[in-house]
Amino acid sequence: MDIRFLGHSAFELTHEGTTILIDPFLDSNPKGAAKADEVQADAILLTHGHVDHLGDTVAIAKRTGAAVAAIVELANEVAADLDEGHDVRDPNLGGTVQFDWGWAKWVPAWHTSTTPKGTVNTPAGIILSFGGKIIYHLGDTCLFSDLALAARRGDDVDVALVCIGGHYTMDRIDAVAAVELIGPKQVIPCHYDTFPPIETDVQAFKADVEGSTQAKVVVLDPGETHGA
Ligand code: NI
Ligand code: MN
Repeated sequence: MDIRFLGHSAFELTHEGTTILIDPFLDSNPKGAAKADEVQADAILLTHGHVDHLGDTVAIAKRTGAAVAAIVELANEVAADLDEGHDVRDPNLGGTVQFDWGWAKWVPAWHTSTTPKGTVNTPAGIILSFGGKIIYHLGDTCLFSDLALAARRGDDVDVALVCIGGHYTMDRIDAVAAVELIGPKQVIPCHYDTFPPIETDVQAFKADVEGSTQAKVVVLDPGETHGA
């Protein structure tokens, strides 16, 4: 299973011809590694409705026919912009959605969320099973102890995608504690260096995590791929 970092909080997961996008903020992303009309998708999973996460979801879903899954209020808003009958899944926190490639579960994240249209919705993290791996995208969140409860149900997390930039989310110091709570085998940092308020020292984060946990930190430049 390959994980390609598309910049900011956007990831592309691929395995045996199936492609999953998480938070595909691409065309307006200062660090975007691909344009919305260049990516493929079988499913688009959204952590929340902020523009730097919802991004180009509607355009990609229309072009590719990809299923879209998000917390119900956000899912309904996206569905209204797609053709009737488009595959849109609308879980709520704690809900698991089954796909032919695996499953995805929406779990709490402490944050806020308003879409570009101005509607308020509930932010989340996403734990998914795909290509034989458990991936946990934390979404945008601060540090809170229930990260451990979410992550330590069922199989261990193989790869955690962790926001570290501070200002809008937890910073790289709190993110070390988040990794301690989650206990993943690998960590890919994200949501940093995209804009001035979230610039941080990713190598310091890597050193701190690897000094205090068993996790290995894989730092990806936008566009780089990691074989998980
Ligand atoms: Ni956000
Ligand atoms: Mn964000």
